Amino acid sequence: MDLHPTYETALEVAAQLAREAGQIVRYYAGRVTVREKGYNELVTQADEEVQRFLTEQIRQHFPDHTILAEEVLPDQQNGKATASFHWIIDPIDGTTNFTHGVPPYGVSLALQHEGRTVVGVVYDVPHDELFTAVRGGGLYVNGVRARVSQTATLREALITTGFPYREMAHLDAYLEALGRIIRATRGVRRPGAASVDLAWVACGRFDGFFETGLSPWDVAAGILLVEEGGGRVTDFHQRPDPLFARQILATNGRLHEALCELVAPLHHVYT
Ligand code: IPD
Ligand code: CA
Ligand code: CA
Repeated sequence: MDLHPTYETALEVAAQLAREAGQIVRYYAGRVTVREKGYNELVTQADEEVQRFLTEQIRQHFPDHTILAEEVLPDQQNGKATASFHWIIDPIDGTTNFTHGVPPYGVSLALQHEGRTVVGVVYDVPHDELFTAVRGGGLYVNGVRARVSQTATLREALITTGFPYREMAHLDAYLEALGRIIRATRGVRRPGAASVDLAWVACGRFDGFFETGLSPWDVAAGILLVEEGGGRVTDFHQRPDPLFARQILATNGRLHEALCELVAPLHHVYT
């Protein structure tokens, strides 16, 4: 398949930058000062330094692209997609894990072209695994082609999720959905980094993922990874493109409707 030349360059640059950012994250592991920017919402100097590094590098490589990144830094403009190419960055996804020395946590980079994600890279730092995808080009894990699982029944399915930890207003609805899923499946995990949850659905380790309240930087790259792995990603009403939906359901495709049915108690929750 012939790819847009910018997509190919962007993939190479993003993969390289994610690995280099991973070195910065490794340097800080075990020696970070943690600040709470909101209730249970942590930020460290590693998050800020990685974001500075990534945004500076992207600006050097692609001066006419815009960037949306999670951390608000005084000297950085953080913005809307005003250019046709727009990056969405999470410098460290899984900061709570990172500050406790618990894997996984990672760096997430996505490039959008005219509003559509075309490149996605997630680097799981402690596992040294790089997940990459270009739209239409398939999913790769450390350079090896990978796919979603073939699991066809909930009974055989392993599901991943993110527990609510900041906004508790809908905890009861969440626990009801979780109970239905625990009863129907082989089990549920909470690894602690949404981008990695999606990457692990994309390569077939998990069969499905659901969470509410996520931001675009948590999911932008991961959504493309799942799609390029052959899976499906929607909101809880099965509408595609849930980047801004604050509810996400990602599966191997086969289990999508069944899992969507189980998360019914959360259908109207956007936290
Ligand atoms: C968080 C992680 C976590 C999810 C949270 C996210 P952060 O990202 O992805 O798994 O449950 O909602 O905010 O804050 O560590 O970048
Ligand atoms: Ca995140
Ligand atoms: Ca983050």
